[in-house]
This record gives sequence, structure tokens and C-alpha cells, in this order.
Amino acid sequence: MKILIFWDIYWRIGRAALKKELPKLKEKFEADFVVVNVENATSWRWIIEKHAIELEKLWIDVMTSWDHVFDNFDKIKNYLDKPDSKLIRCANFYNDENLEWKGYKIVENNWKKLLVIHIMDETFMNHKVDNPFKKVEEIIKNNPLWKVDWIIVDFHKEVTSSWYGLSFFLDWKASFVFGTHTHIQTNDELILENWIGLISDVWMSWPLYSVIWADYASVKNRFLTWINKWKINQCLDRNYVVNWVCVELDEDWKCKNIEKIRIRGEL
Ligand SMILES: [Fe+2]
Repeated sequence: MKILIFWDIYWRIGRAALKKELPKLKEKFEADFVVVNVENATSWRWIIEKHAIELEKLWIDVMTSWDHVFDNFDKIKNYLDKPDSKLIRCANFYNDENLEWKGYKIVENNWKKLLVIHIMDETFMNHKVDNPFKKVEEIIKNNPLWKVDWIIVDFHKEVTSSWYGLSFFLDWKASFVFGTHTHIQTNDELILENWIGLISDVWMSWPLYSVIWADYASVKNRFLTWINKWKINQCLDRNYVVNWVCVELDEDWKCKNIEKIRIRGEL
């Protein structure tokens, strides 16, 4: 079974690049599932309902979200609340408002079930969250591997140490853990001796010649003077880079192979 995992489809260039590349990739890799992190799919920090629907049409099974989920909550709440929403949010956010908390989702293809869990770390993320280790363990206890065929985890984090800790913690309990949020594709993909596959960051799909996503000329003075009075502009260059991994999981839940790929192109 193969899953294509894309992270951080940034703004309209990221959405357009994914639209262009995904059909070819699905066919080439004979993918069974597609999982996409959409934390910046509309703009920096958010996705709105219209763009979630636009991405959904690309045959994406699950969209994972971000640490800024409440910054523009009114523009995505309606989509999140739909019973068939493909978007999930970090399962360990405090849930004071009794919202229906979609921190994980089970998707099915050809009679096989994939459980995707989304959680966030406590360290340097500027949010109060429940312990991610305990939360993910609780979700897996309620959805054990005899009930679903595979379990994968998107861990939204700033530091790699807790992410590695979580990966070891989940060995034998899940098939694959991938990190998101740190904006770089890491070269540390690994299958632990026992079971689980991991990579600490998948990276973004965004304007290639940009400072993360910003136009360099608009941020240059911030680096030189430390004064934040200048408006940051989006990079409008039409060259893009799409980063992703293809993960192969075998019938007895073990991770078999992790292939990380980077595609450059122009719109
Ligand atoms: Fe993030």
C-alpha cells in the first residue's frame, strides 16, 4: 500500500503546483492514499473553506492542519464541522469550547482502512496543548491495529528531539510518523528495527526563489535593520518546488520503504 504525503501547500502557487503534479504522481506511484498538510494553503497561517474544497477535488483523502487553526477560525469552521470534512486539526489542542474535535480520521480504499492522526508538540509552539504522547496513545487505544489496517501520524512540531522520542514511542503501535511545521525537507528518513518508518520533516510546496514564501526585496531590510516596519510581500515568481514522500506500508502494517522527492517546475 502506498501513501503520498505532501506538506504545506503554500498559497495559490502551491495549490496550482499540486493540481499540476498530483495526477501524474498518483498514476506513476500507484498511490492508494494522499495526505496533505494545508497550514498555509490560502495564505500565511490559514486556509479558507473555498480552498479546502478546491484541494478536496484533487482526490485528497486527508488534510492536516496547523498551529494557527484558531487565527481565522470563522473562515474554516463551517468546513471543519461538515461530517465528511477531510480536514483534521491537532487532536491535543485544549477543547474548552466543546467543539467537535476531529483530531484523526479513518479513510478507506479497496476495503482497507488508514487511520491518520494529527497532533502537536508542546515545545516552542506557543500553544497550550495536552501531552502529545498520551493523546496519541489514547487515540490508538481506541482504534487499534486490529480495527484499522494502518496508522500514520502527522506531528506538528518545532524541535526534532520530541519528534524522535515520539517515533520510538510509537514503534509497534503505528506504521509511519512524519513531522511538519519546520519548513525543510530532512535527510533522515529511517525505518526502525522493529516496525515504524519516520522522517522529521517533509518540507513545503511553495515559490522556489523565496524567503520561505516572501519576496526577498520586501524582507531584506528586516534582516539588515531589525525594524519591522516594512510590509512583507508574497513572492510572485512562477517557479515552484513541490516536496513530498511516498511511503510504502506492507500488509502486516510494517513500513517497507520511504522515498522522498522534490519536483521543480514553472507555472
Ligand atoms: Fe505550523
